[in-house]
Amino acid sequence: MNKLNIGIIGLGRMGQKFCTELVRSPLWRVTRICDPSAEARRIASEMVPEAIVSNNEDDIFSDPAIDAVGLFALADSRPGQIRKALAAGKHILAEKPVADSVAEEWEVVRLVEASDRMVAVNMFNRSAWYHHTMRDFIRSGQMGELAIIRICHMTPGHMPAEGHDPEGPPFHDCGMHYVDVARWYADSEYDSFHSQGLRMWSHSEPWWLQAHGTFKNGVVFDITQGFVYGHLAEKQTHNCYFDFVGTKGIARMTHDFRTATVELRGTSLTETITRPFGDKKIDVLVDTFGRSILAGHNLGFPGVRDSVVASEMSWRMLEDAAANGSPCIGSPETMDEIVAHRRTLTEGYSLPVWKIIDETDTR
Ligand SMILES: NC(=O)c1ccc[n+]([C@@H]2O[C@H](COP(=O)([O-])OP(=O)(O)OC[C@H]3O[C@@H](n4cnc5c(N)ncnc54)[C@H](O)[C@@H]3O)[C@@H](O)[C@H]2O)c1
Repeated sequence: MNKLNIGIIGLGRMGQKFCTELVRSPLWRVTRICDPSAEARRIASEMVPEAIVSNNEDDIFSDPAIDAVGLFALADSRPGQIRKALAAGKHILAEKPVADSVAEEWEVVRLVEASDRMVAVNMFNRSAWYHHTMRDFIRSGQMGELAIIRICHMTPGHMPAEGHDPEGPPFHDCGMHYVDVARWYADSEYDSFHSQGLRMWSHSEPWWLQAHGTFKNGVVFDITQGFVYGHLAEKQTHNCYFDFVGTKGIARMTHDFRTATVELRGTSLTETITRPFGDKKIDVLVDTFGRSILAGHNLGFPGVRDSVVASEMSWRMLEDAAANGSPCIGSPETMDEIVAHRRTLTEGYSLPVWKIIDETDTR
């Protein structure tokens, strides 16, 4: 079988994860890699010795042998790259968010939906076996009607001043995944919400946020997200769960970033399933995207529109938290202490790039 050729733009934490899975996949061949960082280019040559490595993204767009581009730099570079890719007739595998402003994101939706190219966005929850298991269970009627969605994702993760500025505070950078997946389960649009933020360490932006509210179909939700969970604890941990309550039964899931456990309690089915967590499920996305290009239609990859709805809603929830007042707790000195401490760690939660590509990537 002829492999699909892909050029990678941005070989940081996520770019390296994608590159690893693309090289492993029988569907793909990585032929070019571009990154302005010399260190990233050195890693690129090590990871894919046969690829052409450069610091000029136009080398990728102008190569007629390339079928698809992987856009794994930060949000502010994405709209221009998406425009160039579509103009050059390339399919697109993109990280989220697809732009650094909501207006630009909707412009990207318009461009993508007017083109005949396949564009996948890494809303990784939609590639997760445990979410498909719980959605199928809910749809089977075992829980009665879905009524309450509760999601929590708190880790001692990414800190201010560690990059990702165009992606916004954690409730957007990371929280948009949970805003997306709640909407996916509810199978309805967001209706009302109220948000409470906390400006931990007296940082200018909330590093913890809880939003609760309703979907148009009456399902209620609460989402708690924060990278505030005991950074200076002698032994770090996290608190991540999904909890679905129906009129008759429940489904829930928790994980330790290596193993995920799903518990189903239905009217006639009781099951506990434990399987590997699967990190960002990039193997699943890369495979589905490749098969979709070959089939000529989307076989189930997440698309641009859903990513933009999630991005816009998480920005709006952040704005609501600001309007409701997000108190300050703690001092900038503690924040500095945490950032300095993280520089000494070789194992941890979303450590800054180049130090280590850890297996417990928590964003
Ligand atoms: N889907 C997820 O679960 C998930 C998780 C983490 C990050 N992300 C997203 O992935 C993207 C990358 O995040 P990351 O953590 O890998 O960041 P990173 O800072 O580790 O890597 C970014 C890389 O892009 C390179 N770069 C910057 N500008 C560039 C340009 N114009 N052209 C080419 N390369 C450029 C940088 O040199 C760096 O190597 C972000 O948009 C982030 O929001 C998604």
